[in-house]
Formats: sequence, structure tokens, C-alpha cells
Amino acid sequence: MNILITGGAGFIGSHTCVALLEAGHSVVVADNLCNSSAAALERVRQITGKELLFYQIDVTAAALVEGIFKKHRFDGVIHFAGLKAVGESVEQPLEYYYNNTVSTMVLAAACRKYGVKRFVFSSSATVYGENEVPFVETMALRPAANPYGRTKAMSEQILSDAARAEPGWAVALLRYFNPVGAHESGLIGEAPTGVPNNLMPYITQVARGKLAKLRIFGDDYPTIDGTGVRDYIHVCDLAEGHLRALEGLRPGVHRYNLGTGRGTSVLQLVKAFEKANGLKLPCEIAARRPGDIAESYADVSKAERELGWKARRDLVQMCRDAWRFEQGAEI
Ligand code: NAD
Ligand code: UD1
Repeated sequence: MNILITGGAGFIGSHTCVALLEAGHSVVVADNLCNSSAAALERVRQITGKELLFYQIDVTAAALVEGIFKKHRFDGVIHFAGLKAVGESVEQPLEYYYNNTVSTMVLAAACRKYGVKRFVFSSSATVYGENEVPFVETMALRPAANPYGRTKAMSEQILSDAARAEPGWAVALLRYFNPVGAHESGLIGEAPTGVPNNLMPYITQVARGKLAKLRIFGDDYPTIDGTGVRDYIHVCDLAEGHLRALEGLRPGVHRYNLGTGRGTSVLQLVKAFEKANGLKLPCEIAARRPGDIAESYADVSKAERELGWKARRDLVQMCRDAWRFEQGAEI
């Protein structure tokens, strides 16, 4: 298949480019590089030994997107491009609503115009909000009360309605849990600009000495040890989930959780990281982070049943690969 990957230079997008190229698909990337670098695509070429095409465009720009659809015949689109920092979304709500929902509409409209029927969308576990764990795809959505979370719920809605009006459309709404780790080569990974918001990149920067210590946001949650529980998934497993979704997609709108189905607390992740990499991490207990929930993990049975996909990599591999990338790359 020939696939358009928006946001393909980013963390999850670059790993998905690798998975698709290795499976024999052709890839065209559209990315404005607002949170990534073209060097990541060079690394994708290096890892796979294969070519991909790259357009540096903003995918909210309908004319530019159409220009790409005119040039290429796509069999499907994977739409990763988006802004994803929760705190920033509260400070810049209009930028988030515009970027994340307009990009979805522009791409869906181009698909309709050029007869592209497969669409895979990057959604998030954040759409479940304060539901009971494990989160199941059939649950009513209660998106976290921030603009970022709402853009994901809105984009899901937009695509669901668009698909209902277009016979033959096949849409996968993939709800990612907590992607971590990096490609085992150490060549691509998560390279946040500024101080990381998420736990794993924060941990790797503490391990490297770039940050003094890890602050654990709350130890009084009703969880196994009082710290927040999440479903961490290796980014390469997540990338393979996209491949399965793309290849196995049938007409209709399908929602899939992509996680491991296992919850890990902050303290458990810290210990796993220390053990996997033979390091000690300076930590302190701090106040809860506003907006955080106690527990988030997936029921992953639907993706396994319908896509034949299951995460294979364990916490040790996630910690080793995240650390290898942190030590090596500056992209
Ligand atoms: P990322 O920031 O590394 O990648 C996103 C990419 O999209 C970047 O390369 C950025 O330059 C590009 N981009 C953003 N707006 C664009 C625009 N208007 N036009 C063209 N390119 C644009 O983030 P990621 O972690 O790889 O996330 C990919 C997607 O998955 C995002 O939609 C994100 O919201 C979603 N998601 C991520 C996580 C996570 O924890 N990383 C969890 C759930 C969902
Ligand atoms: C965050 C986002 C969520 C997004 C998800 C994607 C927020 C409020 N939520 O969620 O919308 O879908 O990433 O992966 O940003 N922690 C610490 N110290 C730190 C950083 C984090 O203790 O320095 C804790 C958090 O309190 C949480 C856990 O680690 O319990 C994981 O945090 P994080 O990596 O930010 O992910 P989420 O909270 O799941």
C-alpha cells in the first residue's frame, strides 16, 4: 500500500514509518516539523535501508494537502500530526483546537475528494477520563477536562460522522495508552524540547544528569503503592499496532485500545528503570499534578481479537531502549 503519514517525523510517527517500510509499504510523510526534525526521517532511512518521500507542510493547509493527494495515489492515511502537551493546551486552547481538529477535517475532506477510504487516527486514552479501569472501547467517553483531551474526542466524532456518510470508508480510532521506549537501534526515540512533561523522558533526563531529580506527583492515590498507575507500551509495539490496523481494517468505524493491559505505578516504573539499566534515580514525593487520574490501563482484548495484535515487549525492554536513545541521540 501507499500510505500518507502525517506527523511522520515525530515520536510515534517515525517508528510507524519503520514498521510500514519494513512490511513493504510505501510511505509519504507530511510534517511541518513544529515538534520534530527531518533528521528523524534520515534515521528511518538508515534503519530500514528504504526510501520515503517527505513534504514539509502544515496539514491544516487544505491547498497544500490537496497538492499531495493530486501527486500521489494513496491507499490510506495515518494521521499523527497534532499538538500534544496538555498544559500548553490550557494556555493556548485556540491553537490546539485549530491544529488538531482542522487537520483532521482537511485530511478527511481530501480523502473523500480523492477516493481514499482507509483512515487511521491517533487518539488517546485521555478520552476515557475518569472511567473505571480497565478502559473498554464501549465505554461512554469522558475526555479529560483540557483542550487537548477534547480535541481527541472531537476528532473521533468528526471522523465517525464523516465515515457514516461515505460508503466503504474504513476508519480506525486508535486510543494509545502511554507510549515509551525507542527503536532498539537507538537511532529514533522521543526527543521532547524543553523540560519533559511525561514520566519516561523525565526519568531518562534525570538518569543522564540533565535534570536533578524526579518529582513523583502524589503518593496518596488509591493504588497499589499510592502513586499513579499507567499502561506503558513500547513505541515499537504501538507502531506494529498501526500496521495491523491498516492492513486489517474493514469498512466502518472501529475503536481500538493500544496498550499492554497491565498497569504500572510510578514507583514500579522507577524501580524497573533502575534495575534494567543498573542506575539509581534521585526522587522525591511532590504534590499531585492537577488533572491527573489515579489509574489508567486498557482492556486490550478487542485489538487482539480483531486485529491479531498484541504488545510483546516488556517493561525491561521499554526502560533499556528509552535509556539507550537518551544516551545516544540528539535529534
Ligand atoms: P510528536 O509531537 O512527536 O509528533 C507529532 C508530529 O506532528 C510532529 O512531528 C509535529 O511536527 C507534527 N505536526 C504537528 N502539527 C502539525 C501540523 N499542523 N502539520 C504538520 N505536522 C504537524 O508526538 P507523538 O508522541 O509522536 O504523537 C503523535 C500523535 O499521537 C499525536 O496526535 C498525539 O496527540 C497522539 N498521542 C500521543 C501520545 C503520547 O504519549 N506520545 C499519547 C496518545 C496520543
Ligand atoms: C499524559 C497526559 C495525557 C496524555 C498522556 C499520553 C497530562 C496531565 N496528561 O498523561 O493527556 O494522553 O500523557 O501519554 O499531562 N509523573 C510523575 N512525575 C513526572 C511526570 C509524571 O510522578 O515528572 C506521574 C504522573 O503523575 C502519572 C504518571 O507519572 O501518574 C504518568 O505521567 P505522564 O507520563 O505525564 O502520562 P499521563 O499522566 O498518563
